[in-house]
Amino acid sequence: MTAPMLSPTDETIARAAEVLRGGGLVAIPTETVYGLACDATNPEAVARLYTAKGRPRINPLIAHVTGLDMAQAEGRFNQAASTLAASGWPGPLTLVVPLAETHSVCELARAGLGSIALRQPAHPVAARVLAGFGGPLVAPSANPSGKISPTRAEHVLADMGARVDLILDGGPCEIGVESTILSCLEETPSVLRHGAFDAAAFVALEQDEARPLAPGGLSRHYAPNATLRLNVPEPISGDAYLAFGPTDGPKGRVSLNLSETGDLIEAAANLFDMLRQLDRSYARIAVAPIPMTGLGLAINDRLARAAKRD
Ligand code: TXA
Ligand code: MG
Repeated sequence: MTAPMLSPTDETIARAAEVLRGGGLVAIPTETVYGLACDATNPEAVARLYTAKGRPRINPLIAHVTGLDMAQAEGRFNQAASTLAASGWPGPLTLVVPLAETHSVCELARAGLGSIALRQPAHPVAARVLAGFGGPLVAPSANPSGKISPTRAEHVLADMGARVDLILDGGPCEIGVESTILSCLEETPSVLRHGAFDAAAFVALEQDEARPLAPGGLSRHYAPNATLRLNVPEPISGDAYLAFGPTDGPKGRVSLNLSETGDLIEAAANLFDMLRQLDRSYARIAVAPIPMTGLGLAINDRLARAAKRD
């Protein structure tokens, strides 16, 4: 059976909170990507969520909270973490902090780690669902593990419609790539994943294949079925071309353009939807070079993992 896809209203949000209280799975819009939410304190619900995504249980989930109060019941915030939460929440920023003694998020959701990833989303629908539910919700991106993250409710319906209980349709996600993840386990924060929160001031930790710092941070991910070639300045015939910036070549060779004006914010918002569109019709996709600045760091990171073959 396919899940109902509903517009957010007071009534459907109350229904979503009810489904969540009953241990169900609800896809919700956030400002980054759609998340697949469930009660973070309910191990059975969390087990269903891992199964629905086909996600390895060693890969912990982000707990979404209504604000710093709820976050501090789950994790211990040092000075740096408090400052970051004050400047980045609500928003596309996830903080990894040591687990608090008072935590309620279940062990399975944390993959048994002594740390926890926390985020207060800014999307009004996510915020209303969290307030209606009244506790932490774990919400990984609402895609089958390893596949492209959803930035529209229709993406969730197509990929996960039969495996979730309810989808709230909040329209296209404004940002389009997942949150920045900062580890606040040491005095100085470090970057585990690039996103729309500007983390240029912090060092990106070298990820070790054997012992990844963000367990989901290394594997092939965001994978289309097509083969992907990156940093391709000119399209070759037969390839779909995902352009970036002004193109003056023959129009027919450019399949889609992430941003004709070369705007990285627009490109991030278009990235996953355009990859999905090209993946439907082409076996090979070539992608134009994307500058390594601002949101370009997040875009290049997602593209590199989408292109990885193993
Ligand atoms: O924007 C986002 O963050 C979206 C929306 C729905 O909020 N969520 C999201 O969740 O991207 P997910 O599960 O697809 O990615 C969570 C990442 C994984 O790479 C996971 O390994 C990492 O966070 N993570 C979770 N807990 C962690 C921890 N305690 N230490 C290090 N990394 C952690
Ligand atoms: Mg994901």
